Amino acid sequence: MSPHDVLTESEQRAGLDVQQLRQLVGLVEYDESADPFPITGWDAIVFVVGNATQAAAYFQQVWGMELEAYAGPETGLRDHKAFVLRSGSIRFVLQGAVAPDSPLISHHARHGDGVVDIALEVPDVDRCIAQARAAGATILDEAHDLTDEHGTVRAAAIAAYGETRHTLVQREVGGVRYAGAYLPGFVPATGVRPEEKRLFQALDHIVGNVELGRMDEWVGFYNRVMGFVNLAEFIGDDIATEYSALMSKVVASGNHRVKFPLNEPAVAKRKSQIDEYLEFYGGPGAQHLALATGDILRTVDVLRSRGVEFLDTPDAYYDDPELRARIGEVRVPVEELKKRGILVDRDEDGYLLQIFTKPLGDRPTVFFELIERHGSLGFGKGNFKALFESIEREQERRGNL
Ligand SMILES: [Fe+2]
Repeated sequence: MSPHDVLTESEQRAGLDVQQLRQLVGLVEYDESADPFPITGWDAIVFVVGNATQAAAYFQQVWGMELEAYAGPETGLRDHKAFVLRSGSIRFVLQGAVAPDSPLISHHARHGDGVVDIALEVPDVDRCIAQARAAGATILDEAHDLTDEHGTVRAAAIAAYGETRHTLVQREVGGVRYAGAYLPGFVPATGVRPEEKRLFQALDHIVGNVELGRMDEWVGFYNRVMGFVNLAEFIGDDIATEYSALMSKVVASGNHRVKFPLNEPAVAKRKSQIDEYLEFYGGPGAQHLALATGDILRTVDVLRSRGVEFLDTPDAYYDDPELRARIGEVRVPVEELKKRGILVDRDEDGYLLQIFTKPLGDRPTVFFELIERHGSLGFGKGNFKALFESIEREQERRGNL
C-alpha cells in the first residue's frame, strides 16, 4: 500500500506521515475490501454552541486552530452561522443559531454547548447506509448528493446515542474529489492569527456517555452497524466502581483512526461523574475529545498561558513509589510532568502522557483531553486507579478515610 492510500487528504495536507500517525493515534494497517462499513477516518466534529462567532475566535486564539471555511447569512444560509476550523488533520465545525426560530436554539436549550455530529469520512456512503439499514440503525438522512461549482459530496446520516448523529461523508464521487473549502454552500475563510506551530495534530478518540445499563447496547451498535472491533481496555468494576463510578468499553474502526470509549455510570458512594454529565447535558452525548499532540508539555504551557484550566493532579500521584516504578522511563523527568499535572500510563506496548481540561463551557459536560502516545494504545486506565488511590492515601494520612 502506498502512503497515499493510507493517509487521508486531511493528514496529507497537515503534512503528517504514517509513522507519525502510528505514534499519534495508533493507526494500524487495515484491509477494508471485505468491510461492509469501511471508514476512512474523522470528517468533522460538529458542535452546537450558544455563540459561534465568539467560539470561533476562542478556538483560534486559544487553541491555535485555523479558520478555513464559513457559511451564514452572508453566503445565503439564513438559519445559522457555521465556522470551520482546523488543527492538523482535525476539523471542527461550530454552529450557532441566527434565526430566532432555528432548531439549533431548542437543541442548545436542551444540551448547552456540545457535539451534535461526529461526522465520518467513508469511501462509499451507499454501501454504509445499506449495511446500517440491514443492521437496524436509524437512518436520519438517506444518501444524497450535495453539489456546487467545486464538485459533489455524497452524504447520509445515522443516529447515535442521545441526539448525537454520525453524518457519513463521501468526498470522492464518480472518481472526482470534491475541491471546495468544506461542503457545498461553504466559502473559504481566513482567520486572524496563524499559529506558529500547531498545539495538536489529530483527534485520537471521542468518549460517549450513555445511560446506566446501556453501554453494552451501544458497544453492540458499533460492532453490528459499523463493524467496529472491541479494544482490550475496559474499566470494569474491579477498578472503577469504588472510585470513579463508571464503566467503560472501547470500540474502534478497522484502522483505529476512529475510537469510541463508551461510558455508563456505575453505582457508587457518591454521585457519578457520568450521572452529572447526563443530568446537565440532558441525556447521552459526547463527553470528551482527546486531542493528539507530539509535545504535550509545550501544548499545556501555551494553553495555560492563554487561560485554559486543567484538572489538578495531587503531588502524591508523582511521589508514589509504586507509580514511579510502574511508569519507568519516560521522555522527560517526572518533575516536568508534576509541574504541569500531566499523567502517565504504561502498558505492555509503551506509555502515554495525558491531561484533562475542566469543562469547556458553562455546563459541567464537554471537555478536552490532550494525549501524547509513545507506543501505548490505551486510554489511561491505569490512571484511574493510581490517581484515585493516591488521593485515598493522602486522605488516610490526614486521618480522613
Ligand atoms: Fe480519553
